[in-house]
Amino acid sequence: MAVCQYVTDIRMGDMGDVRTTSPPYRLFSPMPSPISITRCICQGREFADLLPLARQHNWDLAALMEHTGCGAQCGLCRPYLRRMLKTGRTEFNEIITENG
Ligand code: FES
Repeated sequence: MAVCQYVTDIRMGDMGDVRTTSPPYRLFSPMPSPISITRCICQGREFADLLPLARQHNWDLAALMEHTGCGAQCGLCRPYLRRMLKTGRTEFNEIITENG
């Protein structure tokens, strides 16, 4: 019998409750990501505010950086800005690097 069958209730602190169903038992339950990246920290600008601006002016990443300063300081938000422009997403629950 698998160990996971004995697990009926796992508490994950700030990540919320994760419960298995019983029966049938499940090894993994959906769990909300503890990561939420939604803004350029250096400029204090939300991606949700930057996206409509970029779309309105048809900015690419270079133009967005030039006009807002976002992505042009520490650069940590640059991969997220690039992804935002490509997909329209303004909240990210995963780490994205320049290569990713
Ligand atoms: S977080 Fe956007 S430039 Fe630093």
